Amino acid sequence: MSRILLISGHPDLSSSFANKTILENLSGFSGLEVRALDTLYPDFHIDVEAEQHALMCADVVIFQFPLYWSTYPAIMKQWFDAVYTFNFAFGPEGDKLKGKKTILSITCGATEDSYSEGEFNFFVLDRYLDAAMHPVKAAQMNIIDSVVTFEMNAVEAEGGNAEQVLALSASHAARLIKSIQSLNSI
Ligand SMILES: Cc1cc2nc3c(=O)[nH]c(=O)nc-3n(C[C@H](O)[C@H](O)[C@H](O)COP(=O)(O)O)c2cc1C
Repeated sequence: MSRILLISGHPDLSSSFANKTILENLSGFSGLEVRALDTLYPDFHIDVEAEQHALMCADVVIFQFPLYWSTYPAIMKQWFDAVYTFNFAFGPEGDKLKGKKTILSITCGATEDSYSEGEFNFFVLDRYLDAAMHPVKAAQMNIIDSVVTFEMNAVEAEGGNAEQVLALSASHAARLIKSIQSLNSI
């Protein structure tokens, strides 16, 4: 059985619709360990040893986060800064995560169309993710899939719709599960 580690970069799951629902849909998935950074590190003091150990024990790593300013929230940036150290994730002996199967699970408030040249979000999302995934690529992790869902805004005052977000979250979780299951055939 594969050991699957999901790093949740949501800054406050108690106020989340999408990420919380996705995690609820994944609960009970065999072999899955969820490390919710907001719960583990409300003070941003990352336990580097524990995080590196969890990463090394995993066969598959999932990075799940809500898109904030076209990247991950600050708690996940702090996590990468603290955990992806010299001779762990890069450097002459920094091959500890090399080749590890990795999946991105990302929720976005904006429309997909807004992520294009000349539109509100300027570039296609992949261009932002190329930059955001610098540590993952430097560590030579193997990103094998990205599960991305747009229009996950539950805030009515901003034109959002909570019912729609819950439905999109369930289908996002189903796609993520399918992606994990397809790994057995890789
Ligand atoms: C500070 C902040 C910045 C955000 N920036 C973006 C963004 O750049 N692009 C986007 O599509 N959505 C953006 N959003 C919307 C979130 O991605 C969306 O609310 C989130 O994915 C919903 O997940 P949740 O219900 O788990 O919080 C932003 C939201 C916040 C609070």
